[in-house]
Amino acid sequence: MTISDKPMNEENPAPPARLTLRRPDDWHVHLRDGAILASVVNYTARQFARAIVMPNLNPPVTTVAAAKGYRDRILAAVEPGLAFEPLMTCYLTDTIDAGEIERGFADGVFTACKLYPAHATTNSDHGVTDIQKIHRVLDVMQRIGMPLLIHGEVTDRHVDIFDREAVFIDRILAKLITDFPALKVVFEHITTADAVTFVEACGPNLAATITPHHLRINRNAMFEGGIRPHHYCLPVAKRESHRLALRRAATSGSPKFFLGTDSAPHSITQKESACGCAGIFNAPFAIESYAMTFEEEGVLHRLEGFASEHGPAFYGLAPNSDKIILERWPVNVPAKLVEASEDFIPFHAGETLPWRFLGLARS
Ligand code: DOR
Ligand code: ZN
Repeated sequence: MTISDKPMNEENPAPPARLTLRRPDDWHVHLRDGAILASVVNYTARQFARAIVMPNLNPPVTTVAAAKGYRDRILAAVEPGLAFEPLMTCYLTDTIDAGEIERGFADGVFTACKLYPAHATTNSDHGVTDIQKIHRVLDVMQRIGMPLLIHGEVTDRHVDIFDREAVFIDRILAKLITDFPALKVVFEHITTADAVTFVEACGPNLAATITPHHLRINRNAMFEGGIRPHHYCLPVAKRESHRLALRRAATSGSPKFFLGTDSAPHSITQKESACGCAGIFNAPFAIESYAMTFEEEGVLHRLEGFASEHGPAFYGLAPNSDKIILERWPVNVPAKLVEASEDFIPFHAGETLPWRFLGLARS
């Protein structure tokens, strides 16, 4: 990573006018399918070299054939000239076949499996109802070194929605980590100080992704002067003390925390409804948002580790060798974007951000 061609490090953290960093990856994104896929995928592909693609389509991606087909559709939608590799995931169900998962991993089609507790979020109805039901699958994943990506919330309606992540740690995750000590686990889109503390205390097989939005908004954002559906996502943003804990973790330089946008586009009609969908569409200005946060914390020099190095290291992949350039220049985020003839509100809509993404550095 360079600042105006000077290496940036702990001794030289001064903010530059230009930032050149190893091209980042997005370790958690929803690309959808069909016309919306074709419209949104290039926001991700222009910034990120690789992305872990969530399998919560309808029907979910539960077979090698389905993942191959989806990967082909993604690649067909990527603009010519953009180098982008979608990393596919398998959606775990109570009855998923361990053999299919092992085959998909061996063939390089599946990179990881995604655990949605049933009914936790969008298209999770086919998710896992009881972790015991997938113990055989987890045994296989542990043996072959295949990462498990977890939506970490209990679905018990008696548990307050703001406590569901913390309760998940106590009821499910702590035991899972003990039962499968060699299983690589990513605690996805963490939202609480409890999750930060837990991840820090566990060994190197547990890591976490952190979204741009959970670094910037707390739960007040959903209720500012009225109901704000475009700030509603799952897990929901928590109180301010949790946001601050997430900012500390993301910007700490710890290799246990890395970038995962959880960009989850839903049209205005789907969001602004009596029962609006969860999800924040942050892909259009993702790296700009993270850069702003790292700069505010005075550690812009740690952005590259979080965005481009910790993730590949955890997944056992090489970091990207190409680079991107960010420039300190105000960028206006549009109030809305039209994707496949529908309106979408991007994260930071109407704001001016201090860093703009210039594109790939010429090698
Ligand atoms: O806010 C979210 N949106 N959280 C999820 O877990 C799913 C995602 C989606 O697919 O829309
Ligand atoms: Zn997600």
